[in-house]
Amino acid sequence: MTNQDGFETLAIHAGQEPDPVTGAVVPPIYQVSTYKQDGVGGLRGGYEYSRSANPTRTALEQCLAALESGPRALAFASGMAAEDCLLRTVCSPGDHVLVPDDAYGGTYRLFARVFSGWGLTHDVVPISHVAAVREQLAARKITVVWAETPTNPLLGIADIRALAEAAHEAGALLVVDNTFASPYLQQPLALGADVVVHSTTKYLGGHSDVVGGALVVADPELAERLAFTQNATGGVAGPFDSWLTLRGVKTLAARMDRHCRNAMRVAQMLAEHPAVSEVLYPGLPSHPGHKTAQEQMRAFGGMVSFRLLSGEEAAVRACGRTRLFTLGESLGGVESLIEHPARMTHVSVTGSPLEVPGDLIRLSVGIEDCDDLLDDLRQALGDG
Ligand SMILES: Cc1ncc(COP(=O)(O)O)c(C=O)c1O
Repeated sequence: MTNQDGFETLAIHAGQEPDPVTGAVVPPIYQVSTYKQDGVGGLRGGYEYSRSANPTRTALEQCLAALESGPRALAFASGMAAEDCLLRTVCSPGDHVLVPDDAYGGTYRLFARVFSGWGLTHDVVPISHVAAVREQLAARKITVVWAETPTNPLLGIADIRALAEAAHEAGALLVVDNTFASPYLQQPLALGADVVVHSTTKYLGGHSDVVGGALVVADPELAERLAFTQNATGGVAGPFDSWLTLRGVKTLAARMDRHCRNAMRVAQMLAEHPAVSEVLYPGLPSHPGHKTAQEQMRAFGGMVSFRLLSGEEAAVRACGRTRLFTLGESLGGVESLIEHPARMTHVSVTGSPLEVPGDLIRLSVGIEDCDDLLDDLRQALGDG
C-alpha cells in the first residue's frame, strides 16, 4: 500500500497482504495464544504471546492506522477498554480533564464513577463552544480535552481544528471519539487531534456482530506507551473479533455513503412532521454545527435524533411501534435501530450535567430501502 492509495483501497488492502504461505486473500484467524520460538528469544515476526500481539489483530491495527492516517493503531476488546487504557496512560492521579457536555453515557461514567476514585478530576464543558473551552484551559492546568463529534446522542459538532489549537497552546492533549463519523467521514488526526478513539462495535464493524475498540495516535512515542499499558492490563481484541471487524471495515465506505443518504432523507422527513418539535442532524442547514460539519466531514453520518412535541411517554410509545427500526442499544450496523436515550443508553447520566431530554428519540439509520424506513417512522409517529 502507498500513501497515495484512496480510502476504499486502504480499507480493503492495508495490513491485508495475501498470506505468504498459502496465498489466502483474507488474513487468517490466528486463533492461538502462544508461538514456537526458534531458540530462547528467537521470535518469528515478533510474536510470543497473543496478549502482546496476534497477527489477526496486527492486520486490523495496520488497517485502522491507514484509515485514520496515523502511524499506529491499537485494537481493544471494547471501546471502553480503549478509553480506559488511554486515560491510565496519559493521566496521573491529581490531573484534571475537560469532558464534553454531551457524550456517550459510558464515557462520562468512566470519568465520574471510575477515574474519580483514582484521583482524576474533571469539568464538563460545552465542547462546541471553543471560547468556553479556552476559558477553562486558562483557568487551570488541564491534561486532556476530550471531545466527541458528532456527539451521542444530541449530534453536537465540535470544531476539531480549533479545539486542537486551544488544547495545544495550553499544553493539553486533544482526544476525539470518532465513533459516530468513522474515519471515512472525518479524520481527526489530520485536523490536529492527538488521539482518536473508536468503538469499532459501531460503523467500523458495521454488522452488529462484534464488540471492539481502537486508539489511533499521532505520536509514535505515545503509541509505545499505550502499547505498554495495553499489554500490561490486557484489554485486547481477540483474533476472531479482530477478523470480524476487519471484514466489516472492507465495506465501510460503501455502507457510510448509504447510511448518510438515508439519514438525510429521514432527517428531512422528520423536520416536516407535525409530531416532531426538533430534529438534531448536522446535515440540516438549521443545525448550529452545520457549517463546521461541512468543513470537517465528508458527509453528515447515519445518526439522527429528534424530539417529540407530546413528551416522554409519547417518545417511549413511538420507540415500541416501529416495524423495521429495531428497538435496541448500539448503532452503526446495516440494520436500522431506534432507542430512547434517557431510559436506555444514557440512563447512567441521569441527574448529571449530561442528562438528556425525556422526549428524545435516537435513530441509527441503516442501509435498507429508505422508502420503507420513512413509511415505518411515519406509522410509528401516527398518533405522536
Ligand atoms: C461514542 C461512543 N464511544 C464509545 C462507546 C463505548 O464503546 P463500546 O460499547 O464498544 O465499549 C460507545 C458505545 O456506545 C459510543 O457510542
